[in-house]
Amino acid sequence: MITLKSPHEIELMRRAGKITATARAFAGKMVRPGVTTQEIDSSVEHFIRKQGAVPSFLHYEGYPGSVCISVNDEIIHGIPGPRVLEDGDIVSVDVGAYIGGFHGDCAATFPCGTISSEAQRLIDVTRQSFFEGIQYAKEGHRLLDISAAVQRYVEENGFSIVREYVGHGVGTQMHEAPEVPNYGQPGRGPRLLRGMTIAVEPMVNAGSAAIRQMPNGWTVCTLDGKWAAHYENTILITDGEPEILTAPAI
Ligand code: MF3
Ligand code: CO
Repeated sequence: MITLKSPHEIELMRRAGKITATARAFAGKMVRPGVTTQEIDSSVEHFIRKQGAVPSFLHYEGYPGSVCISVNDEIIHGIPGPRVLEDGDIVSVDVGAYIGGFHGDCAATFPCGTISSEAQRLIDVTRQSFFEGIQYAKEGHRLLDISAAVQRYVEENGFSIVREYVGHGVGTQMHEAPEVPNYGQPGRGPRLLRGMTIAVEPMVNAGSAAIRQMPNGWTVCTLDGKWAAHYENTILITDGEPEILTAPAI
C-alpha cells in the first residue's frame, strides 16, 4: 500500500530530509585523498546524532555502518572500513536519518581530488538523470514515467542502468511501497498523487548493467569492473513541482 502523508507528516519528513541532506554534504566535504571510509562513517554518525536523529542504515537488516560508501566500481552498499581514498577515486555516499518517526534517504557521488573527465561525466549524467526523471514526478503522471525518463537520459549518454536495485517509497519505514525502478515503460505503474514521498535513485554503470555481489553480503560492484555512480533524493509529490525533501541547504 502506498501511504499518502498528511501535512503534519510532511513537516516531519522535511525535518528528517534536511538533516539527511546536510549529512550527505558533510560526508562529501570529507571526501579527499588519505581519508578512510571508516573515518567518514563515524563523523557522519556523530553529525546525525548531534542533530537528535538516528542513522537509518545502522543495523538495518544487520548492516554494520551508518553510511554506505561505495568507491569506483562499487555501485552501492559499500561498507565503511580501513580503505584509504586515493586521488582520482569517485566515492558514492548514501545516507539515511530517522527523526520524529520518519526517514530521509539520499545519496551522491563525489570526486576525490582530481578525477578523469570521463568519471566526471558519469557523475554528471547520473545526477542529471534524477532531474530528468522528476520532471514527471507530479500529479497526472504515472510512476514509470519517472523511470522511463531516467533510463532514456542515461542510455542516450552511453551509460547503463542497474536493474536489480530500485528506488522506493520513504516514510515511517525507510523502504515503503512503491518500488521506483530506473527503467520502464511510460504510462505504466501507479498514478502519482500529492502526499506520496518517494526516493528516486538512479544507479548508473559506465559499462554494462551487469552486477556482482561481493562476499561481504552487501557490497554490489559492476561485473565488468568499470565505474558506477549513484544519486538519490527523497521527494514529495504535490499538485505542482515535486518538493525535494533532501535538497542541499545551500
Ligand atoms: N540507502 C539505501 C537505499 O536507498 C539503503 C541502504 S541499505 C542499508 O535504499 F542497509 F545500508 F541500510
Ligand atoms: Co534509497
